[in-house]
Amino acid sequence: MSSEQEQQWSAVDRFFAELLTDPDPALDAALAASAAAGLPQINVSPNQGKFLHLLVRAMGARTILEIGTLGGFSTIWLARALPAGGRLISLEADARHAQVATANIARAGLAEVVEIRLGKALDTLPQLAAEAHEPFDFVFIDANKPNNAAYFDWALQLSRPGSVIVVDNVVQGGDVVDANSEDRSVQGVRRFNERLAAEPRVLATAIQTVGAKGYDGFAMALVTG
Ligand code: SAH
Ligand code: DHB
Ligand code: MG
Repeated sequence: MSSEQEQQWSAVDRFFAELLTDPDPALDAALAASAAAGLPQINVSPNQGKFLHLLVRAMGARTILEIGTLGGFSTIWLARALPAGGRLISLEADARHAQVATANIARAGLAEVVEIRLGKALDTLPQLAAEAHEPFDFVFIDANKPNNAAYFDWALQLSRPGSVIVVDNVVQGGDVVDANSEDRSVQGVRRFNERLAAEPRVLATAIQTVGAKGYDGFAMALVTG
């Protein structure tokens, strides 16, 4: 992708963000603190964060599971969409990411709504399942891509008909169509898409996106059975 092209995508992202989304000190502070702590800047974009927020509100979700917290930017967007009494559990493997996120989430006034569970998600998901929570209404999968198919299996197990599962980064700059790619993330995303296609209990689609984060996309699955 030419840098001219990427600059245009970023300019359009800014155009919509400035038009449609009020400045938000807690979200700005979360990004600033994450950058200051040296976290990778791979959070969802503001427009994508708001899209997740609107999805959660539109469906009236009361419980959310997130896999991959980073500094809590997507977490804050999601948690703010919950009604009073709603809960969000976010799984994060990196202790420093979890620490930065905890502070960001507290600053956003969401400490009582959000619980971060530290550990590799494939370790913490079975623990979560053993606790016999109510099913999650909404699941956002956004951690290490090689495990996406496994995360999707857990998401299905922890949800109910009517739940929605969103999976980030399913386009990988277009490389998702390259069966011979040696990139483990690309292979993980390909395996996930095949898993999604073979799953009779969901209706799914995938949408390509361009913007400040380049060329990527997300998949959405509605659990039907
Ligand atoms: N959802 C965040 C971005 C997440 S980036 C946002 O949009 O703001 C991906 C995160 O997944 C990183 O913080 C990384 O440490 C975490 N991660 C990587 N492997 C993991 C694993 N096995 N289990 C849980 N989290 C993992
Ligand atoms: C990248 C982007 C993401 O949204 C993510 O979850 C992981 C990595 C990236 O651009 O490298
Ligand atoms: Mg992502």
